[in-house]
Amino acid sequence: MSTRNRARLAYKLRYAARRPRSIVPYTRRLARDTWLRLRTRDHVGYYRAVMRSDTARSADGAVGTPTHDRWLALGRMQFDYLADHGLRPEDRMLEIGCGNLRAGRLFIEHLDTGHYHGVDISPDILFAAQETLVRYGLQDKLPHLTPVRDLRLDFLPDGLFTVIHAHSVFSHSPLEVIDECLAHVGRLLAPDGFFDFTYNETEGAEHHVLREDFYYRAATLIARAEAHGLVARPMDDWRKTGHKQSKLRVARPGQGTVSP
Ligand SMILES: C[S@@+](CC[C@H](N)C(=O)[O-])C[C@H]1O[C@@H](n2cnc3c(N)ncnc32)[C@H](O)[C@@H]1O
Repeated sequence: MSTRNRARLAYKLRYAARRPRSIVPYTRRLARDTWLRLRTRDHVGYYRAVMRSDTARSADGAVGTPTHDRWLALGRMQFDYLADHGLRPEDRMLEIGCGNLRAGRLFIEHLDTGHYHGVDISPDILFAAQETLVRYGLQDKLPHLTPVRDLRLDFLPDGLFTVIHAHSVFSHSPLEVIDECLAHVGRLLAPDGFFDFTYNETEGAEHHVLREDFYYRAATLIARAEAHGLVARPMDDWRKTGHKQSKLRVARPGQGTVSP
């Protein structure tokens, strides 16, 4: 695990010297993000504006995949992982930050009709999600796609979800957003349900780059889950996928699904 601090000037200068072609795109991103930050009130408003700007260029790019082949591969990776962990058609799934259904389209296809719920802070990416549904002919599966202002998720019922999933969402979230989610997600979990999320892990100082990419120590996130009466454990088998983020699984204490 890395101890690099990407927010440090020395790191940025070294990175720029090694990859001079990254300087212009980075400077553009810095200018765009500064402008968006000045025009929005909080992190969610800011990140929604980032997503609007990115989605206007490419929905696949906005969820972090520069090519459609990578979009397909990253969706398949998430699906295969949960399928290997026993995802059943009768499971009820909530995907937090579902994007344009990179993985969601596979979950929707696998799950019983009406069993998939996707939420996202970005209406623009949810329009793109509707296009994905049409492209893959999934209308009959009646998935629920809902824009959200925050992660209180108070419009959803108690104890409904057996699987809650958030991939590459907390990697873009400050601690207060993650904490809000952990404070409320336990209410939504079925008794044997679990919540899997990925995040950028560091063993050094926690930091962020442009308030777009956040790096956390595992212990910080595990402690936040515990503070909200949940237990969390690292999913080491996720590393086999080769994905650069780490994964934690959260559940209610004493529930079998979260034990090794
Ligand atoms: C990198 S994309 C990943 C999308 C999807 N999980 C996937 O793997 O294809 C991150 C998504 O999370 C959404 N997002 C970011 N912060 C969020 C928050 N606090 N609540 C809900 N969605 C959020 C973004 O709008 C974006 O669609």
